Amino acid sequence: MQSAADAGLLRQRRMISASTDVTEPNQIWFGDKPYINFSSNDYLGLSQSSQLIAAMAEGAKRFGVGSGASPLVTGYSDAHRQLEQALCEATGHEAALLFCSGFSANSALMKTLFGKHERVVADKLVHASLIDGLRESGASLKRFTHNDIDAATAMIAQYQPQAVITESVFSMDGDCAPLAALFKQCQASEAWLIVDDAHGFGVLPNQQACRADASNCDVQIVTFGKALGCQGAAVLASRACIDFLVANARDYIYSTALSPASAYVAYKATQMVMRSAELSGSLSAVINYFKQACEQAGVPLTPSVTPIQPIVVGDLDKLELIASQLKAQGLWVGAIRPPTVPKGSARLRITLNINHSQSQIDHLVATLSQVFSA
Ligand SMILES: Cc1ncc(COP(=O)(O)O)c(C=O)c1O
Repeated sequence: MQSAADAGLLRQRRMISASTDVTEPNQIWFGDKPYINFSSNDYLGLSQSSQLIAAMAEGAKRFGVGSGASPLVTGYSDAHRQLEQALCEATGHEAALLFCSGFSANSALMKTLFGKHERVVADKLVHASLIDGLRESGASLKRFTHNDIDAATAMIAQYQPQAVITESVFSMDGDCAPLAALFKQCQASEAWLIVDDAHGFGVLPNQQACRADASNCDVQIVTFGKALGCQGAAVLASRACIDFLVANARDYIYSTALSPASAYVAYKATQMVMRSAELSGSLSAVINYFKQACEQAGVPLTPSVTPIQPIVVGDLDKLELIASQLKAQGLWVGAIRPPTVPKGSARLRITLNINHSQSQIDHLVATLSQVFSA
């Protein structure tokens, strides 16, 4: 068997070596070298927010650092209820259920809602957690060409699925699903639309095509580790659906509940994101600045209007070389390879956040321009 290293697919963890420095929010250290981080999903910079750091301490003091039991035993507290309520208010769904991670929420949802008698249609590029959950469920799964509403429509008509699954903002491409059109097709054939909103929630509330809520989907999964800057996730849906999950989702029933301190931080982060148009306005300004700079410098980009800005390279050796050239210039950019993305579409995944300064972006774009014109 060819080793992962020989195939250029070895995955390595690198340890960040410095503690948090709130004065340099985008600086990360590996060994003794600092880099500007262009690979985090902390789009609004909230993981370093002094308000949320204080909320973590307050939440721990009020509710404890651990929940001590599963939610159905004694692990469900006021901190959890308050967060569920805030998420329902933010999205318009009737009820919410909290999980310790988005991966757990997605796979639990798939395994609990579907079995071998169900048919599900999903976008080709939905997240691994959904695919794994669906595989385990035994449901019959058909996948349509990414974001192709005509292909989705034909597949829905042919297979009459119980549910259609998409992401709102796709994690590796940064593009938006045609939620309104998909929802219309789903309603016409009485299928549920389930939207993984991990990279949409709180990111760009005004981007209508990307914005998921109860008006354009039946079930929505939000994760707290991206725009909210903290940890955990929620499934949002009708009261009947959430009651069904509480009664049947084994990952929920047989697992220690999200820490109440984490629930409290996510509650505060939800409030910040929902009350402040300034955060998403600042993020839009950073995205626009980056895109304009790339255009002027002739750096090839996709039409993504979100903080996820991929540059598809294709060849694995070339990607490796480019990533190391960026590192040599103090720039940390994700190099994403198959199987995370489809074969032949290995890429740089640049992610922007509101703390990127114009000079940091100028440095990135100048380096990209040199590297791509060489
Ligand atoms: C689209 C999508 N869904 C779900 C997840 C899982 O979320 P979490 O990191 O909270 O487990 C991720 C994270 O990588 C993601 O990108």
